[in-house]
Amino acid sequence: MHIQLSSRVAIVTGGANGIGLATAWRLAGSGARLAIWDRAAAAGTAAADALTAAGHDALFVEVDVTDRASVDSAVARTVAHFGRLDILINNAGITRDAQLVKVKDGVVQEGMSEADFDAVVAVNLKGVFHCTQAVVPHLLRQGSGRIVNASSVVAAHGNFGQTNYVATKAGVIGMTHVWARELGRRGITVNAIAPGFIATEMTAKMPAPVREGMQAHTPVGRMGTPEDVANAYCFLVSDQAAFINGAVLAVDGGLVIGT
Ligand code: NAI
Repeated sequence: MHIQLSSRVAIVTGGANGIGLATAWRLAGSGARLAIWDRAAAAGTAAADALTAAGHDALFVEVDVTDRASVDSAVARTVAHFGRLDILINNAGITRDAQLVKVKDGVVQEGMSEADFDAVVAVNLKGVFHCTQAVVPHLLRQGSGRIVNASSVVAAHGNFGQTNYVATKAGVIGMTHVWARELGRRGITVNAIAPGFIATEMTAKMPAPVREGMQAHTPVGRMGTPEDVANAYCFLVSDQAAFINGAVLAVDGGLVIGT
């Protein structure tokens, strides 16, 4: 299947690293113009420079998705630069793992802090709300658009130590379903992806035995690559996915059926 995004303007949040960076390259390779939105200025600038040097049209915009004013000014900068918006990939995400309550040597200890709960909600859930609400008016005006949100396999199955993260990734699926209903008739599709364990900075922070355990439970026998996920994002924003709306696409090597 040849995916042609012919000059469409794509915003990739969290596009400076990991899955987002691979997605920026994948979309650019299919002809899209790229706005890399990230709070990591050095990595984001380097990403946009590398894309530009390779002959693509790319812009880095420093943004904190937790801050609505920052998101609004990122939209304004992106529209001023490219003149339109077509695709939003809500990919930025963080983890702050801790057990709900910890018990060590029979002693109940403090678990996940409220600050860590709120920080993850602010990026992974509210950030998706901010970016989508700020971008959608532009898509509505032109009567077309594609939105894809980053959920995770853990949304459906839970994961040890991830109360905050799992809550946000399940919430993202809920918002995806709502927006698919609200925007479908207006030519805008909204879908989510649910990656399994993908080799990025995020999973590099996990203890090695956890990573090895996940790999052992994955029927294809390896961790995913950022490019595996980028391919799924690219398909869901393509013309070929026009009738896919409100779906959650697992990109997990069969991890879910392996559990
Ligand atoms: P990563 O940690 O490699 O990259 C995340 C990017 O988001 C970074 O560039 C970071 O600067 C940016 N970011 C974080 N907070 C931000 C904020 N407030 N405003 C703007 N940018 C911000 O993460 P990775 O692994 O590439 O994950 C991408 C997405 O995929 C995340 O939503 C993650 O939850 C999801 N995911 C990842 C999986 C994995 O195994 N790596 C599995 C399932 C889902």
